[in-house]
Amino acid sequence: MAIKSDIKNIKLATEGKKRIEWAERSMPVLRLIRERFTKDKPLRGLNIAACLHVTTETANLMRTLKAGGANAVLCASNPLSTQDDNAAALVKHYGIPVYAIHGENNKTYYQHINQALDFKPHITMDDGCDLVSTMHQSRKELIDGVLAGTEETTTGVIRLKAMSADGALRFPVIAVNDSKTKHFFDNRYGTGQSTIDGILRATNMLIAGSTVVVAGYGWCGRGLAWRIKGLGARVIITEVDPVKAIEAAMDGFMVMPMAKAASQADLFVTLTGNLNVLRLEHFKKMKDGAIVANSGHFNAEIDIPALEKVSSSKKELRPNVVEYKLKGRRICLLAEGRLINLSAAEGHPAMVMDMSFANQALAAEFVAKNHKKLERKVYVLPEKIDKGIARIKLRSMEISIDRLTPEQKKYLASWEMGT
Ligand code: ADE
Repeated sequence: MAIKSDIKNIKLATEGKKRIEWAERSMPVLRLIRERFTKDKPLRGLNIAACLHVTTETANLMRTLKAGGANAVLCASNPLSTQDDNAAALVKHYGIPVYAIHGENNKTYYQHINQALDFKPHITMDDGCDLVSTMHQSRKELIDGVLAGTEETTTGVIRLKAMSADGALRFPVIAVNDSKTKHFFDNRYGTGQSTIDGILRATNMLIAGSTVVVAGYGWCGRGLAWRIKGLGARVIITEVDPVKAIEAAMDGFMVMPMAKAASQADLFVTLTGNLNVLRLEHFKKMKDGAIVANSGHFNAEIDIPALEKVSSSKKELRPNVVEYKLKGRRICLLAEGRLINLSAAEGHPAMVMDMSFANQALAAEFVAKNHKKLERKVYVLPEKIDKGIARIKLRSMEISIDRLTPEQKKYLASWEMGT
């Protein structure tokens, strides 16, 4: 039977399969889970609708869910992050329905989300909360069929917590992002490296000696700041959180408001999860040739409508580089302000997505086993699962660590012993 899908071109499948297999080599934790899922089928009979970046790493997660007995369907969580060959391989070689085309417009993006929802999911798997939000706004009839959802990213968790605070959230969701083996590694080392990868593929600029503004010093901003400093950039951090700002200063970065930083940098990267972090007042101060990019989830961090409004013309200089002409100056916007690491490069490497997607697979299993006990709230996976992933990852890296002695365990559990 033909697999339902809406993808660019099924003929790309051979190339996509090769790339999925390449990613799989660096995903040993997910591989172990898949082997167990193949035997135990913990997701038997469950429909899982996933709205994730359609990358080779995601393909390996989808294979794992299917191996666990789920009927899994995939749609894109961003119009520019879909890898069309990978989508084709998922359909042709792995029998997984996919609704995603690189460069799709907003209308098609939401049409694909709705097509994934047509599978009547028992579990939703989101990266940014678009699936859950769409269901709660326009596909309410499906809500009662959902056991729980999972959420991959900080932005999505923030939206879900807002829904929960509003009393609007109608089923439980596991914040996979909040597992330690997710955000400490994916958000920090994954975003740090892949953001630079995207900027370099788009521009081929030299980082050494350049001045870079990193907006936001959360885990993603920290990751980028450290990595780009390592390549020789002078790094300025902008923040709104006073604690994070102290941390950035004590980590050795310059910290200042964007209004001051705007005139100083060659490259600006936003990773805040907030709106209009770079706006007209900042564009007006930027140097000729300044490059602006976003690595936050949504394309809302750079006020592109304002940039369009004040520029006399724009032209594409290279793929993913559009130059805007302002009075006597030029500003280059990368990848339409969409997340640069997935739009201009391949996203985080498989080695780090291994832990993120191990969390996703185990969150689906956790929902299958525990949904009856869960309320309409945002949950974190139990620490035992998080630590279990860390132990397997360590083993795959051939790193062994110490264990507490009985004496040390007793000491930690006691309060009587002091000086
Ligand atoms: N988010 C960031 N990098 C990713 C990747 N490689 N695959 C899926 N989601 C991602």
